[in-house]
Formats: sequence, structure tokens, C-alpha cells
Amino acid sequence: MTEPVSGHTPVLPGEVVELLAPHPGDVVVDTTVGAGGHARLLAQAIGPAGILCCVDVDAAARDIARERLADGPCRVTLHRGNFADLGPVLDAAGISAVDVMLADLGVSSMQLGDPERGFSFATDGPLDMRMDDRLEGRAADLVNSLGEKQLADLVYHYSQERFSRRIAKRICRVRRDGRITTTRQLADVVCKALGVDPRSRRSKIHPATRTFQALRIAVNDELAALEKLLDQAPQYLKPGGRIGVISFHSLEDGMVKRDFRRRKAAGVYEIVTKRPVVAGEEERGSNPRARSAKLRVARRTERTLEEA
Ligand SMILES: C[S@@+](CC[C@H](N)C(=O)[O-])C[C@H]1O[C@@H](n2cnc3c(N)ncnc32)[C@H](O)[C@@H]1O
Repeated sequence: MTEPVSGHTPVLPGEVVELLAPHPGDVVVDTTVGAGGHARLLAQAIGPAGILCCVDVDAAARDIARERLADGPCRVTLHRGNFADLGPVLDAAGISAVDVMLADLGVSSMQLGDPERGFSFATDGPLDMRMDDRLEGRAADLVNSLGEKQLADLVYHYSQERFSRRIAKRICRVRRDGRITTTRQLADVVCKALGVDPRSRRSKIHPATRTFQALRIAVNDELAALEKLLDQAPQYLKPGGRIGVISFHSLEDGMVKRDFRRRKAAGVYEIVTKRPVVAGEEERGSNPRARSAKLRVARRTERTLEEA
């Protein structure tokens, strides 16, 4: 049982450790350290001879993880960076070969729960959604500047929202009277576009969930970052090294599945998880984030990339 850390409970903790199979003395890279929940479990498995390199694009997450991982037991290095830049980040850490790599995608409960970060409509806050506060574009910039078709395409492309056109049309109409600047404002516009009262909603998810997901993906360029991570990973994994990716929606899971299959066909990976691993009933009951989590793991073969 893994205790929640700063409000974030790591998903699939037992499965991550079992399938990534860290050993004493291993070099581990957690590319999305968050509150350090998975990192702590991996640190315990690699012990005092191991090296744990932790990466997060969010300065706040890195600070929480620093505290959380202060007692080792392995050597821990923390880096603020985007996993899209895996190579430069590992170079800076002096790491050229990795036994275990983990990416637990999306946002943490700390990010979601902080109204000032603007990820959630549960509490009102500025329409921001940047994981990396050095980025210039916020969700409000997209919502208030894109044309109706561009907005509809963005929402559809990144969330498969069936009513993306209706939502974009409503946004464009509302913003004629002034900018849409807060999460609640946007959630209300979406609900009105769909003619749904969120308090009496029949569906399990809030009507604005998909629109928010799409904007978050766009603001943080999440799919491009994942593609770059997947592209660079085989260069750094040792033969026998393992990569695990936990995704929370079908766009990401599809990318991971296709990448692992393509590299299996090239002889670079063996697929460890024939099907994505999902949380059991108990975890789904106790940790709502676990309900959509899918873990895929691949193992690097001996084949060099030149041979592939
Ligand atoms: C789901 S949380 C990770 C939680 C962590 N596994 C734990 O157990 O506490 C995802 C984290 O990944 C970070 N993140 C998302 N995309 C990233 C990227 N492209 N590069 C680096 N970090 C990223 C977020 O800032 C967030 O802190």
C-alpha cells in the first residue's frame, strides 16, 4: 500500500515496480517525478548503490520531490526539464545508459487541486494550464485568440469531443462581450453550448472535461513531447533496460502502443505488457485517477539502433 504524498497517490504502484523490475545498483530515470511517489518506490528497490535521476517540467513538483526523496536511500538528482529534451537532461546529469525509465503522464493532483494553476473547473481560477510556468501561451490565450474553426479542430483533435463545433461557436459568441479568463467561466460556456446543467448531469464526467483536456494538451504540447520522449528512449536504455509509460487517455496510449510495436518489429524492443495494465477494483475505488490509467512496458533488446 502506498501512502498519498502531498495529495498525490501514485497509480499502479505495485505493477510499476513489478514490471519495471528495478534491481539494486540500477540507474533509474523518472521523467515525471511529480510528488515522488513512484520515485520513492524505485529508490528503495535500487538501494544505496543505485542512481535515481528525477525530472519534472514543473518547478513546484520538483521541490516537493526533493523533500520527499531527501532520505535516499540511493543517489538522487533532480532536474527541472521537459522529457522532450531527454538527451540534454541526461547529459546534464552525466547519465549515458539507463536500466529503468518511467513516464507517468498528465497532471498531478497537486497541479489539479491548485486553483491558481487553472487546470480545473472544480474551483475557479485563471485559465492558465501551463505545467511549465516559463511557457508564454496560456489556455486563455488559445480560447480568446483562435478562430472558430481552429478552436473546434483543437478541441476535437485532442479530446474527440463530439460537440466541438458547438462549443467553439459558443466560445466565439461569448468572447465578443469580453475575454474568457477563468476556468469556471469557460466551464459555464461549455455547459451552455451543450445545453447541460452540470448540477443535474446524467453522465459521470463533467461536460467540460474533454474541452479542458484538449486545451491542456495544446498548451503544454503534450503529444509532441511524448513523441520526442519515445523517440529518444531506445538510445539511452541499456540492453535489458525497461521503459514504462502510464497514460490517461487514448491519444497517448495509442502513441505508446504504436511506438512499442514499431520498435518490436525493428528488433529494438520486446513488449512486456501484451495488453495495457489497468488498476484493479480496489485501487480504482480508492484512487479515482487510477480509473483511466494504462501502463505499458517494453524491454530493450541487445540490438543496436544501427542494426535496426
Ligand atoms: C501524474 S504526475 C506524476 C506523479 C508521480 N509519478 C508521483 O508518483 O508522484 C505527472 C507529472 O509529470 C509532469 N510532466 C508532465 N509532462 C511533462 C513533460 N513533458 N516533461 C517533464 N515533466 C512532465 C507534470 O508536471 C507532473 O508533475
